[in-house]
Amino acid sequence: MTFNSEQETYNWAVSFGQTLKPGDMVALYGNLGAGKTVISRGVCKGLGFDGNVCSPTYTLLHEYPNDPPIFHYDLYRLEPGTDICEVGLEPDYLGKGITLIEWPERLEENTAGITHIIKIEILSETSREVTLEKIGAEP
Ligand SMILES: Nc1ncnc2c1ncn2[C@@H]1O[C@H](COP(=O)(O)OP(=O)(O)O)[C@@H](O)[C@H]1O
Ligand SMILES: [Mg+2]
Repeated sequence: MTFNSEQETYNWAVSFGQTLKPGDMVALYGNLGAGKTVISRGVCKGLGFDGNVCSPTYTLLHEYPNDPPIFHYDLYRLEPGTDICEVGLEPDYLGKGITLIEWPERLEENTAGITHIIKIEILSETSREVTLEKIGAEP
């Protein structure tokens, strides 16, 4: 899909968010400024969360109070190959919520638990190519 403005990307993310179920984990791939946080903001809105959503660049994890709860990671600052369990970044109730992961490249190879992969490519200053892959979905 090609989106020609931030608003278009956001609107798509709101509807995508409405399809998510507790336990879903969304990996967001794309360079700095691609729109991972724009999509995260839309997904949160789609799930009913109206508060502030920004990249947890320094804290690595934001948890938004919502039903279901939303866990928003930005792993940019981690070493590649990190096990989020080991760094104590995996609340034991993660499975009860929706998880959004910016910079999933930093995780160890094993991406167990990821249910959706979103890839964002920057086409121009204002347009983005976005692909969504559902893991384990029928072809
Ligand atoms: N079509 C588009 N979709 C999403 N963001 C866009 C688009 N066009 C321009 N932008 C801009 O790109 C930036 C994306 O920022 P952000 O979501 O924080 O990126 P990331 O989290 O991937 O680093 C924002 O400044 C946004 O306004
Ligand atoms: Mg971001």
